[in-house]
Amino acid sequence: MTAADFKRMILEGIPETLPATKPYDQNLNHAPKRKDILSLEEKKLAIKNALRYFPVQFHKILAGEFARELHDTGRIYMFRFKPDYEIRARHIDDFPYKSRHAAAIMLMISNNLDNAVAQHPDELITYGGNGAVFQNWAQYRLTMKYLSEMTDEQTLVIYSGHPLGLFPSHKNAPRLVVTNGMVIPNYSSQDNWERFNAMGVSQYGQMTAGSYMYIGPQGIVHGTTITILNACRKLQGKNKNTDLKLFVSSGLGGMSGAQPKASNIAGVISVIAEVNPKAINTRYAQGWVDEVISDIDKLIERVNDARKGKNAISIAFHGNIVDLWEQFARNNVKIDIGSDQTSLHNPWAGGYYPAGISYEESNRLISSDPERFKELVRESLRRQVNAINLHCKRGTYFFDYGNAFLLEASRAGADILDLNGNFKYPSYVEDIMGPMCFDYGFGPFRWICCSNDPADLEMTDRIAAETLKRIIKDSPQEIKLQLSDNIQWIEQASKNNLVVGSQARILYADTLGRIEIAKAFNSAIERGIISAPVVIGRDHHDVSGTDSPYRETSNIRDGSKFTADMAVQNVIGDSFRGATWVSLHNGGGVGWGEVINGGFGMVLDGSEETENKLRMMLHWDVNNGIARRSWARNSGAMFTLEREMKRTPGLKVTVPFIADDTLIENALSK
Ligand SMILES: NC(=O)c1ccc[n+]([C@@H]2O[C@H](COP(=O)([O-])OP(=O)(O)OC[C@H]3O[C@@H](n4cnc5c(N)ncnc54)[C@H](O)[C@@H]3O)[C@@H](O)[C@H]2O)c1
Repeated sequence: MTAADFKRMILEGIPETLPATKPYDQNLNHAPKRKDILSLEEKKLAIKNALRYFPVQFHKILAGEFARELHDTGRIYMFRFKPDYEIRARHIDDFPYKSRHAAAIMLMISNNLDNAVAQHPDELITYGGNGAVFQNWAQYRLTMKYLSEMTDEQTLVIYSGHPLGLFPSHKNAPRLVVTNGMVIPNYSSQDNWERFNAMGVSQYGQMTAGSYMYIGPQGIVHGTTITILNACRKLQGKNKNTDLKLFVSSGLGGMSGAQPKASNIAGVISVIAEVNPKAINTRYAQGWVDEVISDIDKLIERVNDARKGKNAISIAFHGNIVDLWEQFARNNVKIDIGSDQTSLHNPWAGGYYPAGISYEESNRLISSDPERFKELVRESLRRQVNAINLHCKRGTYFFDYGNAFLLEASRAGADILDLNGNFKYPSYVEDIMGPMCFDYGFGPFRWICCSNDPADLEMTDRIAAETLKRIIKDSPQEIKLQLSDNIQWIEQASKNNLVVGSQARILYADTLGRIEIAKAFNSAIERGIISAPVVIGRDHHDVSGTDSPYRETSNIRDGSKFTADMAVQNVIGDSFRGATWVSLHNGGGVGWGEVINGGFGMVLDGSEETENKLRMMLHWDVNNGIARRSWARNSGAMFTLEREMKRTPGLKVTVPFIADDTLIENALSK
């Protein structure tokens, strides 16, 4: 296919003649069949809704086809409309456009739907099992057409994958505004998501799927590296011993598979238990884990050797995490840091494999005797917690990794609560990410080179490293470690070979870091040192972007963690300060109805206007959350805000007076 054919097909949108039906592609990973949740009347509505995208002469053929899709998959994906060209990130100028900023958005959408990047590409799912870019292929085609036609005087509006249309606006407005899964709060249950999604009127955008900001596994490797490094530091605070640390956890799946790779980068020995041999083989073949051991005695020997030799290796233990914790306790193997990344958000259907029975037997029991399986899971969790408690008494630092481990263990009756009825152990955001990163403004800043050229990425890595090295010289002690971690990360980033899909990079930076790096990129684009525009953005798992009471905002303790003003304000504020696109989502990471999160994308094109926009928008995008965290009396955020107010004219934030607890207790006891 020529470059001109590609452009013509994008401009075509919904084709005038029906494309041929597509054979089922066995080579792709497909989404599971979804719950059959619609009533007959609702099914009729789903088909009628889907037919809205097509001229009536197609309806006779398509009505039957869509009814079959709904029956076979639980959704109407419109498979025959998946384009024949390869969907992937290309050079920005390979896309047809009138607005170059709109072309950058096309690049980002294409990356999220790349067969090599997306989890279920035919079903338009990028990650997390349900993180959708669009609900169906008609929405994709129409959106790409709109983006290719639009000017810098228009804004495209997307409701949960559906392109509502182009509306007149102005050059400084966002080119695109996306919302995903926004529903009336009382209707935000899991079943309602299934129902609305099956009817084609809402979707689960996860965080970076429906906001077109996914950059493959690199993001999770970086986040896990930062978490492990800071966990080591927490330990160091208590214990001055500088020996190589041992990290024990479980899971070599989608996200959990980043643990051994991240441990290598963080310079610790890691042992990650995994029951599924396929998951082990995948990570071993990728080079994400160094060794695989099934025999526990050999494992202990290997760990002791690595410790003596100060050799930061990663080992996959083929076996159950419960056995690992127990055997290490029996053999007095000292675990420094411990966590768990089985999929306990889904405990009864294969997210957690109980100890004492084989992996295969578990898979049989899940459907043949679900009640017995549940009891085995509960028993296993109780055993796991007993072993963890023993290690923690001996000095292990254990944290929950956002997988509902503490919650499910408590539901199983495990010894996981303290005398006040709180969990004995913290979550990674409560103890690490929140107080050590988010409260100081450090979060997942990322960028994508629109030339799609690795040479540009290399240049951006160099610029980012130089910028951070300059900043660290005058930075206060409180943030020096975060800065040096990220300097180390960015200096090694290209060696770690983490690019999958678009030429993208991630690091954690604070307000100043993000602004200075973006400014330096913009200037390098203007001078031709970087050959094409660069998109900047972030994961929604950030300082200000997400209100999620058990994750991102779990260290907000003024009673406001169930409110979502911060995430909503963030998107509104970004949109009028210069973002190229903004997105606001219900759901993401922890489930529909459990979180509101938002993000942005900004195209750096080398212009002076862009420099003004990036200063304004990035400043708000971080300091909104800092101000909220400071108001919640978080000390790191109060420190950061005070520093920011001294530095920034026009920033005047309400700061809290701290009341004396005894005074309040006395007032109430009278
Ligand atoms: N890494 C992060 O930053 C992060 C952040 C938030 C949440 N999470 C959570 O982490 C969990 C894991 O995510 P994922 O994408 O890797 O899931 P996944 O299902 O792909 O992987 C989990 C792995 O654990 C294995 N496993 C299950 N029970 C086991 C046991 N008893 N012993 C040993 N291995 C066992 C499974 O075989 C599977 O391969 C999820 O609940 C996710 O929400 C991770």
